[in-house]
Amino acid sequence: MSGNFAKPQFVLGLVVVELLLFVLVLPLLLKWLIYYEGGFHWYTKATDQTTEKFFNIHPLCMVLGFIIVLSQGVLVYRVIPGPKIVAKIAHASLHLITSILIILGLVSVWKYHTASGYPHLYTLHSWTGFSAILLFGLQFLFGFLYFLGDDYANIKRTMIPIHRYLGLCILVLSTIASVAGINEKLFFGMGKKHVPIINGSNGPQPAEYPDKPPEAMVGNFLGLALCIAVAAVIFVATRPSFQRKSDNYNDPDREPINKAY
Ligand code: HEM
Repeated sequence: MSGNFAKPQFVLGLVVVELLLFVLVLPLLLKWLIYYEGGFHWYTKATDQTTEKFFNIHPLCMVLGFIIVLSQGVLVYRVIPGPKIVAKIAHASLHLITSILIILGLVSVWKYHTASGYPHLYTLHSWTGFSAILLFGLQFLFGFLYFLGDDYANIKRTMIPIHRYLGLCILVLSTIASVAGINEKLFFGMGKKHVPIINGSNGPQPAEYPDKPPEAMVGNFLGLALCIAVAAVIFVATRPSFQRKSDNYNDPDREPINKAY
C-alpha cells in the first residue's frame, strides 16, 4: 500500500468517521424525516398531503449529498491505494453524486416554496446553504479543469492547497446550513402536525418545539451528530501523516508534481 494509509490510527479514525456518519447521522435523519415528518413524495401537482413530504426530499438530499457523500469524497484519496488516477476518478464520481443530490434537494425546496407562496432566499439558512452550493459548483468546475489531466503542473501546485482548503470550507458551511435548517424546521414545522400530541391547559394539542417532544430531541441530536461527524472528517482529512506520500509536501520522497496531481 503506498503512503501511510495502513497506520492503525488512520484505520481507527476512518472507522470512527464512518460509524458517526452511517450509524449516528443517517438513522437520526431517517427517523426524523420518515417517522416524525411523514416520509417522502416527489409530486408534480401539489396537494395538502404531498407538499410536506415533497419538502422532506430537501433535507434528505442535502444531508446525504453535502455531508455523507461529500465526506467520502474528501477522504477517498486516503483510502484508495495504487495509481492516483483511480482515486481521482472515485473523488470526481462522488462529487458527481453529490451534485445530483444537491440539484434534487434544491428543486424540491424551491418548488415547495413556490407552491406554498413563500418568498425565496430570505433566511440565514438559505443564504449559508446557497453559498455552500455556489462554492461547491465552482470547486467542482475548477477541479475538472485542473486536476483530472496530468498537465499544468505549476497551476496544480498553486491550486491544490486552495482546493483542499475550500473543500473543507464547503463541508463546514454545509454543516452550518444544515444545523440552521433543522432548527428552522423544528421552530416553524412543529405545532402544525397532529403528532406528537401533548396535554396542554386547553386539552390535547400539537406539541411545539419548547415542549421538548421526542421529535425535537431527535432533531437536536441530529444537528449535534452532524457537527461531531464533520469534526471527525476534518480531523482525519487534515493529518499530514495520513496523506499519500505524493500529497505530503513535507515528505522528501514525494512523487514529482506532474505525476502526483
Ligand atoms: C447543506 C445542506 C443544505 C443546503 C445547502 C440547503 C440549502 C437551502 C436553500 C438554498 C434554500 C432556499 C430555497 C428557497 O429560497 O426557495 C433552503 C430552504 C430551506 N431549507 Fe435547506 N439546505 C440544506 C439543508 C437543510 C436541512 C438539513 C434542513 C432541515 C430540515 C433544511 C431546511 C430548509 C427549510 C425549512 C427551508 C425553507 C426556508 C428557507 O428558505 O430557509 N435545509 N435550503
